[in-house]
Amino acid sequence: MQVLLVGCGGYAAGYVKELLTGEGVLGLQLAGIVDPYAKNSPAYALIAQKAIPVFDTVDEFYARHTADLAVVSTPIFLHHEQALACLAHGSHLLLEKPMAATVAQAEDIVKAAQQSGRKLGVGFQQCYDPVMLAVKDEIDRGLLGAPVSQRGLILWPRPKAYYARSGGWAGKKVLPDGRPVYDSILTNATAHYLLSMLWLTTKGYDAQPATACEAQLGRAYPIDTFDTIAARYTLACGTTAMLYFSHALHYDKVPRLLMEYVFEDATIRVAQTKGYVYKVTSTDHHGRVKTYGMLTAAYRHKLTGMRRAIAEGAPLTCPAQTGMASMISNAMVFANDLTDVETIRPVREDDIGIWSPGLADRLRAAFKAGKLPREMGQTLSGT
Ligand SMILES: NC(=O)c1ccc[n+]([C@@H]2O[C@H](COP(=O)([O-])OP(=O)(O)OC[C@H]3O[C@@H](n4cnc5c(N)ncnc54)[C@H](O)[C@@H]3O)[C@@H](O)[C@H]2O)c1
Repeated sequence: MQVLLVGCGGYAAGYVKELLTGEGVLGLQLAGIVDPYAKNSPAYALIAQKAIPVFDTVDEFYARHTADLAVVSTPIFLHHEQALACLAHGSHLLLEKPMAATVAQAEDIVKAAQQSGRKLGVGFQQCYDPVMLAVKDEIDRGLLGAPVSQRGLILWPRPKAYYARSGGWAGKKVLPDGRPVYDSILTNATAHYLLSMLWLTTKGYDAQPATACEAQLGRAYPIDTFDTIAARYTLACGTTAMLYFSHALHYDKVPRLLMEYVFEDATIRVAQTKGYVYKVTSTDHHGRVKTYGMLTAAYRHKLTGMRRAIAEGAPLTCPAQTGMASMISNAMVFANDLTDVETIRPVREDDIGIWSPGLADRLRAAFKAGKLPREMGQTLSGT
């Protein structure tokens, strides 16, 4: 099975390494790469060593080659155009999250995939991970009872370099040429976690979008959108999900993630143990803890999932509907066109980053209380 990789630096460098050196993605060959800045990729030496052809545009690749599967892992504002081009050339598609900059763009892509009869998988790796699939299977078989509530605390510092990378599209709402981006902590780095809430609480792999959202948004970085969010979502199953996510934190603080998915008979936890290792456990009413395992090998699971869907007709575990559920739920926080974003002050700043002293503690306190900071009489600045 021939694979086209659109984008080969940033996150996509991991796809290059998996396709060219990884084990376990049997039957996938990297036919070519589209990336006008391929030489900047940390994987470029490997690309050159394996003589993988590199093109500037999707059309240039398809003028000479074909691909059974195209993987689009480029800046968000490019997804719409590139995904449509790959589908028009007959490839199945693995589209990195978020599917596109806007819900309307994502709908275009879904329609094009339906019309061309091609598979469309979205790159939320937890939906492809055997550990999360085992959890999902137990939930869907009713072994944990009905969903009760969900909550998540993600304190992930991001440096200035994160917002400046690759032409500075990060944190933008719209580019100067008018192309929409809508990049934010919710639509990018932490998008996996609201999505997991939707996916785990919907039977089957077609997640349903949230039905309502109240959010408190903030930015400490000089960006268009927001780097901090506290939100209450009502999920389609009727339960409430609370989110507390921020990038505006000091980088020497150990990054922490804790997700809790509460069901009638057990609570599933995804916890960051050391570095970027995520342990998945459940605890039942008797305090018995079951370890499902660690989330691993994101690229391999996604590629294998797509290969199996294309070659064997296996169900897509992160299908278009699930990508749309994420898009629609994320779009809810943009309902006020970002006029409700608080400027978080005071902040501290050095060469590496910008952070708000005390913000992590304020978010932790709100997480414990199950409230938005404003319901505790607080802005995100703590005033
Ligand atoms: N699944 C995950 O955990 C995960 C993690 C990080 C990023 N992502 C997603 O991956 C995508 C890329 O994010 P990133 O952080 O790697 O971005 P990035 O800006 O760091 O890198 C994107 C790559 O696209 C390339 N590129 C730029 N313009 C291009 C063009 N016209 N044609 C082809 N390639 C082009 C860049 O040269 C670079 O190699 C986004 O959708 C992001 O949300 C997913």
